[in-house]
Amino acid sequence: MSEKILVAVAWPYANGSIHLGQVAGVYLPADIFARYHRIKGNEVLMVSGSDSHGTPVTLTAEQKGVTPEEITKGFQDEFLDNWKRLGITFDLFTSTHTDNHFKVVQDIFLDLLNKGYIYKAPMNQPFCENENRFLADRYVEGICPECNSTGARGDQCDNCGKTLDPKDLINMICRTCSNEPIIKETEHFFLKLTYFESVLSKWVEKQTHWRPNVKNFTQSFIENGLNDRAITRDIEWGIPLPIDGYPTKRIYVWFEAVLGYISASKQWAKDRGEPDSWIDFWQDNKSKSFYFMGKDNIPFHSVILPSILIGCGKFNLPYDIPANEYLNLQGLKFSTSRDWAVWLPKYLDKYSPDALRYVLSASMPETSDTDFSWKEFVRRNNDELVATYGNLVNRVLNIVNKNFDSNIPSPYKLDIKSKDLLNECNVAMIQVSEHIESCQFRLALQKSFKLAQLANKYLEHKAPWKAVKSNLEDAATTIWVSLSVINCLKILFYPFLPHTSTKLHSMLGFEDDILSLKWEWNDSQLIPGTKILFSGHLFDKLDESVIEDENMSINK
Ligand code: MF3
Ligand code: ZN
Repeated sequence: MSEKILVAVAWPYANGSIHLGQVAGVYLPADIFARYHRIKGNEVLMVSGSDSHGTPVTLTAEQKGVTPEEITKGFQDEFLDNWKRLGITFDLFTSTHTDNHFKVVQDIFLDLLNKGYIYKAPMNQPFCENENRFLADRYVEGICPECNSTGARGDQCDNCGKTLDPKDLINMICRTCSNEPIIKETEHFFLKLTYFESVLSKWVEKQTHWRPNVKNFTQSFIENGLNDRAITRDIEWGIPLPIDGYPTKRIYVWFEAVLGYISASKQWAKDRGEPDSWIDFWQDNKSKSFYFMGKDNIPFHSVILPSILIGCGKFNLPYDIPANEYLNLQGLKFSTSRDWAVWLPKYLDKYSPDALRYVLSASMPETSDTDFSWKEFVRRNNDELVATYGNLVNRVLNIVNKNFDSNIPSPYKLDIKSKDLLNECNVAMIQVSEHIESCQFRLALQKSFKLAQLANKYLEHKAPWKAVKSNLEDAATTIWVSLSVINCLKILFYPFLPHTSTKLHSMLGFEDDILSLKWEWNDSQLIPGTKILFSGHLFDKLDESVIEDENMSINK
């Protein structure tokens, strides 16, 4: 029976390009998961969009001397182009700066206000006398009161992941003029997290399928005591309050951005002409939701969003939050401000999307931080994609072309090695699907790759290039078995290497869409006599000089 799966993907701030750390941590795992469920025949809704508001965006706009609209529009276009080229298949990638999103957020704000889960109270906020304005979130910087690291921002410390109250920062300064702000009273609206504390804590306790890092982080976050949190700010850019009397206040970016999952789902339903079709994904308790993000986003999805959803009272809570650790770049954290990064648009201008998808999947930071280096990128591309998987396909299809007139041969008697290998395909289909369903993408890729290695070994052993001269029946059998394994690899690798699998699908003589296969494999899918259309190798070998060239460009 087909399941409904909501794939909710963290919304990138529309103030800069996407870098490989975000691809490995967020967008790639989400896409692998979505593609797997689609090919399996499940109904998938994968949504996200540009996070257009908040101080990350306004700070960048001020620094560049342009309006927030201009910045966000430019990056929205760039993101859409990047998803297309990398093959990240959102059902909708929208933005938080739409009428639809404003309405969804304002309605939920009012609902919670009426129910008493949002209330108004005075509070002290940093204020820059130099610039005569309140300093929200990233406009102030200081030492983290929790972990003592420098460079903590007003809303969160990057080092320990704690969410912060700006006035608790030690040695606070104004980010734009370095002045020491004064503390001044203002009025804000608060989300009553204290009310949700015990419900949340019981809910989290039950999530035995969550990754340990996500569950532990959330539990200690709640155990440290939840404080009611201000969800409005004294800024101009953002969503206005849906009540009179507060024209200079806007809704806090984190309160509204996490509601983007709902507004995007609604928009998707409306765009496809079935305006109620989003409801199943959010209210039917048989549907499951998976939230993909980096670890700094955990508390917003495991505490704040669930509180809002419980307050609304009709929405499913997240089923899983497979947050990732970080991908570092040659030993150091990706840093936009120090330009220590590999930018996705630059990568895509030069290299293949599937090579990146492969290398990042193989080193996905699922259980600990991992590292990207150009050296490892070239090695994996050349040794694993080209020399193992690509070479397998080349050798087999070349023999089909040369010795079997480009037709799939009929097998004769299968020996034990052939039977064993075909059996390995069945095992891999089951194991890989289990790993993907439990969000263990690295393991899933390793298992698939293992099968390609086994197939190469089998080929070495059977040496059909010799057998074509001495024992044509045996050669035909070996080639038929190998083609069948390649046909299985095509499915196993599809979530990871969609461009390659699609190409391979038509090379193997299929005319239908690869999705119509379902996640199913058996050795009668290939019909002897079918024409093989060998249209060139699957992967390009990279020259070693790539390593040095690219290292120079990140160290510039
Ligand atoms: N823009 C945030 C970031 O880049 C992520 C927001 S996820 C959302 O860290 F759900 F809140 F939108
Ligand atoms: Zn200032």
